[in-house]
Formats: sequence, structure tokens, C-alpha cells
Amino acid sequence: MENNKVAVIGAGLMGSGIAQACAQAGYQVVNIDTFETAVEKAKANINSLFNKKVEKGKMTREQKDEILGRLTYSGSFEDVKGAFLVLEAVPEKIEIKKDTFRKVDAAADPGTVIVSNTSGLSISEIASVTDRPDKIMGAHFFYPAPVMKLLELVRGLVTSDETYAVVKEFAARIGKTTVDAPEFPGFMVNRILVPMQNEAAFMVMEGSSPEDVDNAIKLGCNHPMGPIELTDFVGIDTMLATMTGLYNGFHDSKYRPCPLLETMVKSGMLGKKTGNGFYKYDEKGNKIGSNF
Ligand code: 3HC
Repeated sequence: MENNKVAVIGAGLMGSGIAQACAQAGYQVVNIDTFETAVEKAKANINSLFNKKVEKGKMTREQKDEILGRLTYSGSFEDVKGAFLVLEAVPEKIEIKKDTFRKVDAAADPGTVIVSNTSGLSISEIASVTDRPDKIMGAHFFYPAPVMKLLELVRGLVTSDETYAVVKEFAARIGKTTVDAPEFPGFMVNRILVPMQNEAAFMVMEGSSPEDVDNAIKLGCNHPMGPIELTDFVGIDTMLATMTGLYNGFHDSKYRPCPLLETMVKSGMLGKKTGNGFYKYDEKGNKIGSNF
């Protein structure tokens, strides 16, 4: 019988969305996070998202129950056992990634492929802490993961063709279009997108209003969201980590992170998820004003 089990490590914004996308595509999913609060939040978010879809008539109650029936949660890495594929989506810090890969490598079956959702860290470096570097590669999702159609595939120096084929087939099954991105910081999308968000933050720091900066790009370039809104949406900490990765990785001052982003992260203003970023949000996530 075909192995239909995938494990997703991390139940934050990205991990929970990836788990949802996999369950919707028919996979049996275990979403693992050692922080119980993250698991509780992930469960509450998916329930509320699906309830809205049922209310809008975009999903039946039966479909909701069926998808949620394929999605389980755990606090133990041991539950990666039996999965043909493990998708890691823990915070974007190399030491956290390496620690996670060591643990998953020790617990997973020998043939299991392990992918990282890193948005720009070195796949080869992450793979180097495991005993299966040929079975490691990058699969970078975009937020919100169940909705965004792209999956960036990133091979490490020793990723095998078999591993690539497993991930490519998985991508097709969850309905994503793939691009082959180079193993350099930011891969493909973030190398282009995040410097734009960073430049937008500089403009706010220099006195432009977030609304004006967002309207300029939304109405002038037809983007669905402005760069400031988008930064709040994905998390200011996540965006700053990616920008810092570009700066450190290319050793090029053109990628210097905007100091305002650093101050905001230090002060706990992380965007929509904390209710406070460039904009202010109510408990339901609706925008209620601006901080600049
Ligand atoms: N999680 C899951 N699904 C979500 C969601 C979320 N957080 N937010 C919205 N959705 C779903 C809704 O349920 C809805 O599904 P339905 O059509 O089945 O009802 C669908 O998305 C559309 O939602 P809405 O009608 O509420 O809103 P919009 O039509 O305004 O679309 C959007 C929302 C898809 C987020 C759109 O604004 C958009 O495309 N924004 C740009 C997103 C973007 O650029 N993402 C990339 C970020 S960069 C990144 O991810 C890199 C990484 O390294 C951080």
C-alpha cells in the first residue's frame, strides 16, 4: 500500500498552513510542535478558517470533518515515524533548524525525505548535520501556504535525483507549481520581494505613511497587497530574518536591513500576529489604524 503519511514540524503560521494544504490534498498528516500553545492556536485557526468556508458555502461540513480527520497534532518528534516525507517549518534560525534536523534524522525511517521550508538558509549546511544529506532539500512555501500556488524547490549540493523526484511529485499532488531556485540566500522570490519590503520600511522611517506606500504599489503595480501590509501579514520578525540572511549571505551592503524593522522586532511589534505592527489590528485581525 502507498505510504500516505507526511509529518510537518512546527505549528506556527507556515507549519500549520502547510499541514492544512497536505490534509486538503488527501495526505494523512501529523503536525508536530513542542510548544502546546502553538498547537492550540493552530487548531483554533484552522477551525475558524474552515467554519468561515462552511458559512460561505465553499466547503461542506462533511468535507471539513473529513479533512480535519486526516490532521493530527503531536508534541513528540517520534511521531515522524512512518512518514515518507517530513516538512520542517520551525523559526528561521540556523541553530534551531540544525537542532530540528538532528532530531528528525534520528527519529525518521531511513528512507524518509526531509525538506526544509527555510526561506533562504543553506540547505547543504542544514543537511550536513544529518546522516542522510542526499535525502534533504528545500521546499519553500509562501504565506498563506494553502492558497499560494508556488513552491520553490532548492537542491543542496548532494541532494539526490530520487529525493527531488519525491518532492516534485508531492508538490504536484498538493496543487503547487514549482520553480527550481538556486541555493543562495533568499532563493528566488524573497531575493526580489524582501528588498522591496525593506525599502518600503525605509520610506516609512523617513516619514511616508504606510497607507501611501501600500497604495503606491497596490494601485501602481497591481499587487494584491502593499509591501508594508505584506510585512505585517507574514510577520516583521520573519521578514527581518530573511533580509538579515541576504545581508550576511551576500556580504553586500545593498541588503542592509532597515533599522526601524529591528526596533519594531525588539519592541515586540511583530505585525498582524501580535495585533501590532506598522498597522494596528483588532482581535479578529481587522486593521483599525496605523502606528506611523
Ligand atoms: N490561511 C489560510 N487561508 C487563507 C488565509 C490564511 N491566513 N488568508 C486567506 N485565506 C484564504 C481564504 O480562506 C480564502 O479562501 P476561499 O476562497 O476558499 O474562501 C482565500 O484565501 C481568499 O481570501 P480572502 O477572500 O479573505 O482575501 P483576498 O482575496 O484578499 O486574498 C490573499 C487574500 C490570498 C492573502 C491575497 O491578499 C494575497 O495574495 N496577498 C499576497 C500574499 C503574498 O504575497 N504572499 C507571499 C508572502 S512572502 C512569503 O510568504 C515568503 C516567506 O518566506 C515568508
